[in-house]
Amino acid sequence: MDEMNKLFYNVIENKRKTLANLKDSIEDTEKDLLTLMLEAGEDTTDTQHRLSDSELRDDLAIFFLAGHDTTSNALSFAIYFLAAHPHIQTKARAEVIEIFGDGDDAVYPTSSQCSQMKYVYMVMKETLRVCPPAPNTSPRKNTENFDLAGTFIPKGSSLTAEIYALHHNPAVWRDPETFDPERFGPGGESELKAGTGLPWLPFANGPRQCIGMNFSLAEQKVVLAMMLRRFTWTLPVDSINKDHIVLGKGMGILSPKDLRVDFIRRF
Ligand code: HEM
Repeated sequence: MDEMNKLFYNVIENKRKTLANLKDSIEDTEKDLLTLMLEAGEDTTDTQHRLSDSELRDDLAIFFLAGHDTTSNALSFAIYFLAAHPHIQTKARAEVIEIFGDGDDAVYPTSSQCSQMKYVYMVMKETLRVCPPAPNTSPRKNTENFDLAGTFIPKGSSLTAEIYALHHNPAVWRDPETFDPERFGPGGESELKAGTGLPWLPFANGPRQCIGMNFSLAEQKVVLAMMLRRFTWTLPVDSINKDHIVLGKGMGILSPKDLRVDFIRRF
C-alpha cells in the first residue's frame, strides 16, 4: 500500500509541475483525466468540493484498477478467442484490411474508421459475454424490504449482480459456452433479445454503469485493428488453453491464466 500510495502521489506531484510549466498551452481535447481533475480543483471557488490530495489519489487508484486491468484482460481474452478460432481471426483481419488497406506501414485508427469495424466489434462483444473481466458488481445494500420478481429481499441484504453467471445461463443465451460472434450480428440472438431485459452486462447498467465503457471499447478497437493488420497468431501446441480458456485468480477481475500466444509478423 505504501509503495502504491507513493507512486500515485508522485504522479500527482509530477503532473502539477508539468502543468505549471505548460499553463494554458494544452488544448482541452488533449487533456487527460488527472489534468481535468487538477484544473477543476484549481478553478473552483467552492472549496468544499475541491479534491484533496488523498481524494485525487483514490480516484487515480480506481481508474488504474478499474480502467487498466479490465481492458487489458478483455484484450487478452479477445486475442485468445481469435487464436482459438482461426476462421474468425481471418474474417476479422479481412474487415480491418478493407477499412485500413493492406501494406507494410503502421496505421493509427481514427474514430470514424473504428465505427466501421462492425465484425471486430461483434468479436469484442462476444468476448465480453464469455469472459466478462468484471464478473460481478460490487455488493449493494438495500435500504428497504422489497419483492424482486416474487422473491422477498429483506432490508439490509447484500446484493450483487452476477454478470458471469448471467452470460453463461442457458436460459438466457443459447449454447452459452460456445464462442460465436454472430450472436451480435444483424438479426442475431442479441438483436432478437432487445427489449427483453439485460442479457449482456459486461459494463453493468443504470446510474452506476461503467464510466469508462466507451473509452475502453475505443481502446480495444484501436489495439485489435493494429494487431490484426500486423500479425497473425496461434496458440502453441502445448498451450494449457488449447481446449478452453483457463481462468486465473485475480483481485476480483477475470483474467486468463498463463496465456501464451505465437505471433507471426505479416510485415
Ligand atoms: C473492458 C473494460 C471494462 C469493464 C468490463 C468494466 C466493467 C465495469 C463494471 C461492471 C462496473 C460497475 C461496477 C459496479 O456497479 O459495482 C464498472 C464501473 C466503473 N468503471 Fe469500468 N469497466 C471497464 C473499463 C473501465 C475503464 C477504461 C475505466 C476508466 C477509464 C473504468 C472506470 C470505471 C469506474 C470509475 C466505475 C465506477 C462508476 C460508478 O460507480 O459510478 N472502467 N466498470
